[in-house]
Amino acid sequence: MMPSSPQWKAYSETEPDHGTQKKVTMCRKLSKVSVIFLFLAVFGLIFLLRNVSSVENWNCHTVSALNQLKSRIQSSFIPVNLPTSNHNNTFCVHLGQKPSREDELEEHYLLDSITWPGPPPRSSPIVLDQTSDPVHSLFTLLIKEGREWHVGDQLEALVQMHDFQGRPKLYGGDFLLARLHSPELGAGVAGKVLDHRNGSYSAVFPLLWVGSAQVEITLVHSSEAVAVLRRLREERPDRVFAKSLFRSGSLSETTVCNMCLPPDQKPQCNYTDLSTGEPWYCYKPKELGCDTRINHAKGGYVKHLLTSKEAPLFQSGVNIKVHIHASGPDRINVLPPRKDGAEVESSVKPEAIQLAPSGYYYKDSWRPLNGVTMRQFSKSSAITQCLENKVINMYGDSTVRQWFEHLLAFVPELKDLNLHSPKHVGPFMAVDSTHNILLKYRCHGPPIQFSTVIASELQYISNELDGLSGGPNTVVVFTIWAHFCPFPVEVYIRRLRHIRRAVLRLLDRAPGTIIVIRSANLRALDPEVSLNYSDWYSLQLNEVLRAMFKGLNVLLVDAWQMTLAHHFPHNVHPPQAIIKNMIDMLLSYICPETKKSHQ
Ligand SMILES: *[C@@H]1O[C@H](CO)[C@@H](O)[C@H](O)[C@H]1NC(C)=O
Ligand SMILES: *[C@@H]1O[C@H](CO)[C@@H](O)[C@H](O)[C@H]1NC(C)=O
Ligand SMILES: *[C@@H]1O[C@H](CO)[C@@H](O)[C@H](O)[C@H]1NC(C)=O
Ligand SMILES: *[C@@H]1O[C@H](CO)[C@@H](O)[C@H](O)[C@H]1NC(C)=O
Repeated sequence: MMPSSPQWKAYSETEPDHGTQKKVTMCRKLSKVSVIFLFLAVFGLIFLLRNVSSVENWNCHTVSALNQLKSRIQSSFIPVNLPTSNHNNTFCVHLGQKPSREDELEEHYLLDSITWPGPPPRSSPIVLDQTSDPVHSLFTLLIKEGREWHVGDQLEALVQMHDFQGRPKLYGGDFLLARLHSPELGAGVAGKVLDHRNGSYSAVFPLLWVGSAQVEITLVHSSEAVAVLRRLREERPDRVFAKSLFRSGSLSETTVCNMCLPPDQKPQCNYTDLSTGEPWYCYKPKELGCDTRINHAKGGYVKHLLTSKEAPLFQSGVNIKVHIHASGPDRINVLPPRKDGAEVESSVKPEAIQLAPSGYYYKDSWRPLNGVTMRQFSKSSAITQCLENKVINMYGDSTVRQWFEHLLAFVPELKDLNLHSPKHVGPFMAVDSTHNILLKYRCHGPPIQFSTVIASELQYISNELDGLSGGPNTVVVFTIWAHFCPFPVEVYIRRLRHIRRAVLRLLDRAPGTIIVIRSANLRALDPEVSLNYSDWYSLQLNEVLRAMFKGLNVLLVDAWQMTLAHHFPHNVHPPQAIIKNMIDMLLSYICPETKKSHQ
């Protein structure tokens, strides 16, 4: 879509250079301020932790987040100071309401938990030759001659990265994905990758099925490419922008909009949400007032942000999602579980394996490992029965809209109401009046790169949740990630914080409301998409999402692992076979197998 507004052109063509300059200066100023701030924060934290047990009327998430923080700090940080690692705020982060002290602490903790090792500082620009090359890199299964493998054991692979000249890499930070699978059995599970920070990595897999199991290791991005992604995220959150149409009578104008616009350039319209403080701005139209905004739409992308040395770090088929080969065998045969229950020694310490798999595929069917029994809803009548008397509210991006569309396509009794909404945008609503089912979808608030959202329909999830009465017949499903990829993680943390508060208020006034979060998933990456929406960004957002809702009464559909473990190529909108599994998971949460918990 080519916007015709001259303002848009002026912005995208001339803005990049002095934009960078300005932000760099701002960052420098900020980093001095932040040193002082951190100093204060450390004292504040100590004070807070001393007093945490005496504060009684805090809501539970604050307390649980603080307890988590407290135990973390006691186990590993004290007496050191709070993490100062690379939290280089841009001006964008500081727009909107100032976070409270607990919020700041939580943010530090979250940012620290997703710290990613980078290449060591260098004096000259990086050249492709010195970066990780999947073709020269190798992995080796750690198997002893004659060793038998049983279900319940753990398989390890050691990956050694090399550069394009075949020299071993000496530092970490490469973004690798690991999967153990068996095409014949329709089986697959995500592996956990550990970065040894010396150019080698361990990939660890649980053995969950009998039969063959084959290791697949993929380099998504070299550590050098990740460093570029991080720089773009911190310095150029404006590289993806939106636009709005303003109209009154016969006059109409289009201007550029974003979470933050460079200050002191042109007059702006401030659409900051009054209840959450979520910021949103558009340049003011020349002739029209800010109250004549009609819609919100995908604007465009700022181009040419990479240097000539950086561009080669993003090449399809060379260093974006390329498999790494095995130096020897890449598969084993797994026998049934050991009868004697004997433990087998492992070279990877158990505490190093944090992310237990949330499930695995067997015969192409997802088997969750979180204690929930997966039910198959293969007939539409089973879905109807499960959803009878329920209102299902879906909020978020197109990846949850896919669920709405799947249910609509699969359950003939659900009739799509024509709300005259824009195609693929919504809001949408479907009903089955016989079974008293109401299914709704609405997109999340900005930033969102949808074709055209009517301005009045641009709502934040937290505000929507505040408008629900809730209860055991209410299901809330939300997904929010893809459109946040280009922005600093702080922006996402702030959004989730608002949603989490609204979720807690909802659960408080209407216990029994079922809340399901669909996480981020992997997507197809080319050089262009990588720069704005790389899986590396999604991975980081996903970890924040999991941490922020951990321990709350919400259910997670782990779309990340469900797309990683599957043999289908990654796609931002996963294919039907995966969606079917996700919907079965959703329905298994809403209608669990045990009768007593079924309300
Ligand atoms: C923050 O960013 C600026 C500009 O990119 C850089 O010079 C500075 O070293 C960064 N600070 C930290 C702590 O990474
Ligand atoms: C890298 O670190 C791992 C874990 O500490 C170690 O096992 C391995 O031998 C190291 N590799 C090299 C090449 O030093
Ligand atoms: C935009 O409006 C919000 C809420 O009224 C306010 O807090 C914020 O400071 C405003 N932003 C600017 C740049 O004036
Ligand atoms: C992504 O961003 C880059 C530069 O940041 C731009 O050149 C590219 O066209 C964008 N495209 C997409 C599809 O994300």
